[in-house]
Amino acid sequence: QRLELELDSIEKGGYEHFMLKEIFEQPRSILDSMRGRLELDGGHLNMAGFRAYEQKFVNAHRIIIVACGTSWHAGLVAEYLIEDLARIPVEVEYASEFRYRNPVISERDIVIAISQSGETADTLAALELAKSKGATIFGICNVVGSSIARATDAGAYTHAGPEIGVASTKAFTAQVTVLVLLAMSIGQRRGTLSETKVRELMAELHSIPAKVEKALKLDAEIQVIAETFKDVPNFLYLGRGYNFPVALEGALKLKEISYIHAEGYPAAEMKHGPIALIDENMPVVVIATRDSSYEKVVSNIQEVKARKGRIIAVVTEGDTTIPAMAEFVIEVPPTSEVLTPLVSVIPLQLLSYHIAVLRGCNVDQPRNLAKSVTVE
Ligand code: AGP
Repeated sequence: QRLELELDSIEKGGYEHFMLKEIFEQPRSILDSMRGRLELDGGHLNMAGFRAYEQKFVNAHRIIIVACGTSWHAGLVAEYLIEDLARIPVEVEYASEFRYRNPVISERDIVIAISQSGETADTLAALELAKSKGATIFGICNVVGSSIARATDAGAYTHAGPEIGVASTKAFTAQVTVLVLLAMSIGQRRGTLSETKVRELMAELHSIPAKVEKALKLDAEIQVIAETFKDVPNFLYLGRGYNFPVALEGALKLKEISYIHAEGYPAAEMKHGPIALIDENMPVVVIATRDSSYEKVVSNIQEVKARKGRIIAVVTEGDTTIPAMAEFVIEVPPTSEVLTPLVSVIPLQLLSYHIAVLRGCNVDQPRNLAKSVTVE
């Protein structure tokens, strides 16, 4: 028994849970996911899987992304990334809907399947369907040799290392990192991204592990916020642009491990319904980093405040406007807008973790959930 306990604690690297270990591993796992793929000196991007299908990407009419859960959220980030940097229209689909919808797919389409485990039944079926219609299939998986990795024409592994906690954390940031590299590679080849911009983004990407490290130092602050809100029945998460998928991801993390009902919304959608939920008891996490939608998000915060909502804001270091409006402010390091999700998701992972621990939940194996969903 003692030996078992000791083995367990060795596996967790001294952390209380795998989820916490995996959250703290992110500076390293993000670095691993870009290792060998960024040649800062020459300004080269080195994605082997992309190179083999370069022409297909350059000539693609459309990119369709299929995934489930957190991987689907990474897909949503990719929609912003690929449309911004490579100017190819992107659709992001729940694999479970796509596979039964008789979707219109052509040989000029590229389907990207994103999956940590590489074993998700719906994602596998969706890519098989697209393959049967002649699309090129690109996989982004974490588990080497998994079913999805084997079923694709080409792909890129995320190299995040084994993820044991049911709640996906380091796999998400690794997926986003690989998707940034992919969007940049396509943009560079299509000429939609200037060489100066490529170099600028490469340098910024290189600095992300250090910025994530810094965001992890917020842990103690976030524990205090978790204490304050651990007993509430509901949470709202709002974000715009690149932070909209982060809002969805923050809400999913909270509900799956703490069993608190949480919803993520694009901040501007609030006035089309969810605003009716806001009163003095409703915590609203707003991701309000300094980017192109900053001013708009500030006015969304004002709308929440006017209804007495309890605002927890994730802002860029040095923000002087939002602290006057929010009950809690979490400051993350500044980065390029397209890379924001890699930094802004960190405090949300920590918040859900601490709330779940305080509520006595089984963080690594939440009820009713499996690490990979191999049935439909
Ligand atoms: C995330 O925290 C979830 N546990 C879940 O949504 C997961 O992302 C989803 O089941 C997809 O899994 P995959 O990436 O292994 O395909």
